[in-house]
Amino acid sequence: MSEDLRFAERIAVVTGAASGIGRTVAHHFAERGARVVGVDLMDQVEEVMAELPGSGHRGIRKDLTSPDAASQVMQVVQEEAGTPHILVNSAGIALLDPATEVPAERWQATIDVNLSASFYMAQAAGRLMLEAGYGRIINLASQAAVVGLDQHAAYCASKAAIVGLTRVLSLEWARRGVTVNAVSPTVVETPLGLKAWAGEKGERAKAQIPVGRFAQPEEVAALIAFLASDQAAMITGENVLIDGGFTSV
Ligand SMILES: NC(=O)c1ccc[n+]([C@@H]2O[C@H](COP(=O)([O-])OP(=O)(O)OC[C@H]3O[C@@H](n4cnc5c(N)ncnc54)[C@H](O)[C@@H]3O)[C@@H](O)[C@H]2O)c1
Repeated sequence: MSEDLRFAERIAVVTGAASGIGRTVAHHFAERGARVVGVDLMDQVEEVMAELPGSGHRGIRKDLTSPDAASQVMQVVQEEAGTPHILVNSAGIALLDPATEVPAERWQATIDVNLSASFYMAQAAGRLMLEAGYGRIINLASQAAVVGLDQHAAYCASKAAIVGLTRVLSLEWARRGVTVNAVSPTVVETPLGLKAWAGEKGERAKAQIPVGRFAQPEEVAALIAFLASDQAAMITGENVLIDGGFTSV
């Protein structure tokens, strides 16, 4: 393994760490020496963190849409691990409805998790990182941030907003050692991705991706790890597509 992408002594906070991309990212960092704090709605986050390679990992069960969740999480991180170096906002949901049928509560739930929770986590972590003069924040956006997808009104809106938010945070924090980037995968083979793109619909979607397949969580984790590394200091405010060419044709 390249010495360049090791994360010894790094403290990484990963939301949505009980499943899918967040879980894989947590594993990727832990394997390379980081101490990981995983946050998730699901009980199993504690078990998932306990099974990571290395030591000192911590699972926090928390609904990140609840008021003050982000500041409570960051308080625990600060007290038990120290100032975080890395934040990956991977907690997210995909609730699909035709635009005329989106119920208000599903719209709001999508914005609350995908956008607001990511903002409050970035704000709470950012305050600590700015004080320390170092930080790497990576927000999970999606190809849905840059193209329209059928029945994805709430999801596309939330992901496009994350890209806008990423730009502002990167601008405000660039001079103080904190980079903020978004990553935008095509469909990734996780519980969320496979549920939204099951069966014939998924096969049609794959056929439209130039590489002819969906992404694997490990591929997304490798990109996130690069953006979280010291080597990526000059990359900030970007939305990096990892979509097998889908949005470039
Ligand atoms: N899988 C894909 O196809 C795909 C593609 C592009 C972008 N993304 C984005 O990547 C991120 C991760 O997706 P995934 O595929 O790993 O999904 P996943 O469903 O496998 O994992 C998401 C995790 O977020 C957690 N979560 C949801 N709501 C929460 C809340 N209120 N508080 C705390 N935790 C909460 C869930 O419990 C779950 O463990 C999401 O933001 C998603 O929008 C996924």
